[in-house]
Formats: sequence, structure tokens, C-alpha cells
Amino acid sequence: MRYIANRSSGQLGVALAEEAAQRGWRVILLLGPTNTAPTLPGVRLIRFQSTADLESALIEHLSWCDVLIMAAAVADYRPIISESDLETKCRRTTDKMVIELSPTPDLLAGCADRRRDDQTIVGFALEPRAEMIESARRKLTRKKIDMVVANPLETMDSDQIEATILGREGTGLEAGRSTPGAIAKTEFAGWLLGVLEETACAPRR
Ligand code: CTP
Repeated sequence: MRYIANRSSGQLGVALAEEAAQRGWRVILLLGPTNTAPTLPGVRLIRFQSTADLESALIEHLSWCDVLIMAAAVADYRPIISESDLETKCRRTTDKMVIELSPTPDLLAGCADRRRDDQTIVGFALEPRAEMIESARRKLTRKKIDMVVANPLETMDSDQIEATILGREGTGLEAGRSTPGAIAKTEFAGWLLGVLEETACAPRR
């Protein structure tokens, strides 16, 4: 009933899944608890609730895919709770309440550690505009992924996204490639998958 979550509409994940299906890709969409859902045929939908559920789904399905696009804005911290907390109702008092949080694992970095050489992994980096590119580049290296889509904080809750893709050495995207300003998330999906078809799906290593 009470939970800590990241706010996310799920629009981007749905747009990417539908665009990929329309291009003939076989698609599994791992989608969190949102009101959004794909309407086009060809997308296998698997719902998850928590970061831990998404972790299990990724462990189960990672080996199946050629390309993993991690657009999910999952929580970085979760509350530390005991079994007894779950058995009873936490009643209102006038005292202050302190909730301890523990970090969730970085799922993207975990997938990058386990992936095969023929798999391509794309992450997202939601960043304050002033430090967006530098921060995204650091995430690309730290998480050992192939591409990172840098987008400013204004993307949250918007139908539009203004993005720059940065790639590892040898992908032709080292200098970055940007959308022409803010574009609809559906249009962005076509743009990103076009770039992926052009560059990352070719053998890399
Ligand atoms: N991500 C993940 N596991 C988490 C949180 C995020 O795999 N527990 C993924 C997201 O799906 C996204 C990428 O990591 O592709 C970057 O997410 P972002 O929130 O921008 O960065 P963080 O790694 O959480 O780092 P920071 O909060 O320091 O910016």
C-alpha cells in the first residue's frame, strides 16, 4: 500500500517496443506498474513491480536478446523492512519516522557484466542539462555498455524527448548524435532504432 518509487509514465518503453515490432524485431517488453501498455501486435508484454522483479526478469531473458534497451526508470533505493513490518499496519503517531533505505543493484551494469560479445546494450542517462554529456559519457564507461542515450531532466513526464546518443569507440558514435531538438517519444523510438540498425547490430568485437 505504501511504497517508494520513481515516477515514470512508461511511454518511452512502449514506444520503443512498438517501433521495434513494426520493424520486424522479436520484442519482449518488461514494463513496470504504469497505466500505459502497448496496443500494436507483436510485443510480448511482461509486467514487473519492483527493481528486484525486473532483476529476475532480466536474468531470465537476457540471453535471448541481441539488443537490450534499458529505458526503465527503476528505483535506486528501497526501504529496509522486516518480516514483522509486513504482518501489521503501521499506525499514525505524532512521532517523527525514519525509514532506512538500501541501494538497489545497478541492473544495467549487471547485464553488461553477464552479456555475450554478440549482444548490444543501450542505457539511458537522465541528467541535469549543464552536465548531461560528461555525466552520460562517464555512465557509458562505468557501466561498460555500448551506447548511452543522454536526456535532460525535462524529459520526465513529457511526451517529448531531446536526446544525444553516445557510443563506445568503434561504433561511429563517439562524438555523439543528437535529435533535432525535442521530438515526440514515438519519433525518437524510430530514430534510435534506425541508429541501432545502422551501427550497433553489426559485429563489434
Ligand atoms: N538503472 C539500472 N538499475 C537501477 C537504476 C537504473 O539498471 N537500479 C538503469 C536505467 O534503466 C538507465 C541507467 O541505469 O538505463 C541510468 O539510470 P540513471 O538513473 O540515469 O543513472 P544511475 O545509474 O541511477 O546513476 P545516478 O543516479 O548517479 O545518475
